[in-house]
Amino acid sequence: MRTKIVAGNWKMNKTFQEAEELLAEISEGLESCELQNTDVILCVPAPYLELAADFCDGSKFMAGAQNIHDQDFGAYTGEVSAPMLKSLNVDFTIIGHSERRKYFGESGDFLKKKVEASLKHGIGPIFCCGEVLDERNQGIHFEVVKKQLEETVFLFPADEFRQIIIAYEPVWAIGTGVNATPAQAQEMHAAIRRWIEGKFGEEVSESTIILYGGSCNAGNAAELFRQPDVDGGLIGGASLKASEFLTIVKAAEK
Ligand code: PGA
Repeated sequence: MRTKIVAGNWKMNKTFQEAEELLAEISEGLESCELQNTDVILCVPAPYLELAADFCDGSKFMAGAQNIHDQDFGAYTGEVSAPMLKSLNVDFTIIGHSERRKYFGESGDFLKKKVEASLKHGIGPIFCCGEVLDERNQGIHFEVVKKQLEETVFLFPADEFRQIIIAYEPVWAIGTGVNATPAQAQEMHAAIRRWIEGKFGEEVSESTIILYGGSCNAGNAAELFRQPDVDGGLIGGASLKASEFLTIVKAAEK
């Protein structure tokens, strides 16, 4: 059985004081959760990574970043590198979020290099893929997602690929309140798993964790996570309130 993962993506939200409060609330709430088969990751804004990593000690969550640069060090003003994350005991990073692709023009080639950097330094990549509404309406969503994977994570050898977590996030569902239906999510997740099997074999495909993201909340998480190929979620808006996030974590555990 695959481990379930519930990862919060705080995006560019919360002041330091609010972040401290939210981390404390989530940490305390997780104390009373009997988590047998669910891992929790909190992808916080870069200035709060040290704080989150400190909270992880003795807590039931792991810290994650929302982005990294592909270079280890150097003249890249404003950027954060994998060795920096490693030195803070940050274990994961999101790579290729649609907001990075859209607002910062991150291409497949650059994203592949970021995945390479994260793997080199032992940071688990949570690699995002997903189509925009127009692509779904045109019926080309499978091709679009396949291409996003083929030009990035599918270029790695199997022993490296298996360390990557995939997050399917249809862009039309992100922050819109319109989630993919459980059937739509399952259909795409099953397709992704089939492509992985074709590329890396059954053992790798069966063990790859594929998260769903896009307006996943306390009300719809259980049904989404019940789908056989949905292994948890990448949660944006609903990760900013402890009680709602904890309900989603509990939904994964069922
Ligand atoms: P949302 O965001 O849950 O607010 O839709 C998900 C994400 O962008 O990772």
